Amino acid sequence: MRTGKWPDRTMFVLELRASSDQGSILESGRFQKEVVGIEASVKDERRFPEKWAYFGFEGGSNEAAPFPKSAGCLSCHQQHAAVDNTFVQFYPTLLEVATRMRTITR
Ligand code: HEC
Repeated sequence: MRTGKWPDRTMFVLELRASSDQGSILESGRFQKEVVGIEASVKDERRFPEKWAYFGFEGGSNEAAPFPKSAGCLSCHQQHAAVDNTFVQFYPTLLEVATRMRTITR
């Protein structure tokens, strides 16, 4: 909030869920179903040459090695995310801060 940047050692955990449009009283929109994946991104400037590394936790595992570059995580996040490899453009509360701090790169 003070700088518009993610400090070193920042971590994000993304919970991926299935969704459905059947089973609600609402006739439009979707609601969450079961967890289908847990992914993480970790910023560690000393540990990772590209600053960020990406992880996936399969089948309830609590350990993971970083994905190799060929997995495509890093390149998509580097090329398309608005602030320091993260998709701040899709989070209006963060986007307002990044706009004010001028930390948006794309
Ligand atoms: C084609 C582009 C693309 C690829 C490839 C991709 N992501 Fe993402 N990722 C996104 C987008 C867009 C978002 C923001 C939407 C959201 O938060 O659901 C996101 C969000 C995330 C987040 C939440 C934090 C953030 O940066 O917004 C994590 C963690 C994440 N991705 C991990 C991964 C991992 C691990 C892989 C590789 C297995 C991966 N991503 C591959 C596009 C991509």
